[in-house]
Amino acid sequence: MLNLVLFGPPGAGKGTQSNLLIDRYDLVHLSTGDILRGEIAAGTVLGLEAKTLMDSGDLVPDAVVIGMISSKLDNNSKANGFIFDGFPRTTAQAEALDDLLNEKGTSISAMLSLIVADEELIRRLLARGESSGRADDQNKSIIANRINEYNNKTAPLKDYYSTQNKLSEIKGNGAVEDIASKLNNVIDAL
Ligand code: AP5
Repeated sequence: MLNLVLFGPPGAGKGTQSNLLIDRYDLVHLSTGDILRGEIAAGTVLGLEAKTLMDSGDLVPDAVVIGMISSKLDNNSKANGFIFDGFPRTTAQAEALDDLLNEKGTSISAMLSLIVADEELIRRLLARGESSGRADDQNKSIIANRINEYNNKTAPLKDYYSTQNKLSEIKGNGAVEDIASKLNNVIDAL
């Protein structure tokens, strides 16, 4: 199986690049942000609990997202592999993911980490906020909180995967197709 963690700060292009990779490598896309927004749209209890945290740019509790990923893995037992987009975001999530994949006799193949400067992240998210309706794209202070959450709780995961020799860092600025081509080169060399 090919199991990729597509990593990077908010606005780095994880979702954009995931959409290209799932077609090229026939993978299942698991975005915890998309799943949570689906729960909010459906008005579930989980969605209602997550909404306040997401709207202010805080992470939702580990147990919630780990449970979501566990059931998605069970529901896609015949998949060729997965792209994890926006998950894991904490050490507890990374350890839980390793355990879940281990139970299925597989593991993470690589972490692909997109590097983009903060000014560009803020520019992209504010631009999307003009049309997306996403509350967390609406102003600089919420976006700054998302970037802080990333720096404090999520960025340390690079060390987690680097220790396992699974980290590749890719510049995430420039044309979408050029970034995709760099990602493809890393994956094809795995
Ligand atoms: P989530 O939905 O994961 O959002 P995010 O990581 O904050 O960032 P985005 O998805 O907005 O950015 P992206 O890197 O995917 O970039 P995209 O391709 O969209 O999480 C939202 C919230 O859910 C979290 O804050 C948290 O509350 C909660 N949550 C989710 N997962 C969680 C977890 N595991 N644990 C706890 N809480 C969790 O691109 C962004 C914009 O840039 C787009 O407009 C795009 O068109 C544009 N763009 C992309 N590439 C380029 C390029 N090369 N050049 C110019 N523009 C570009």
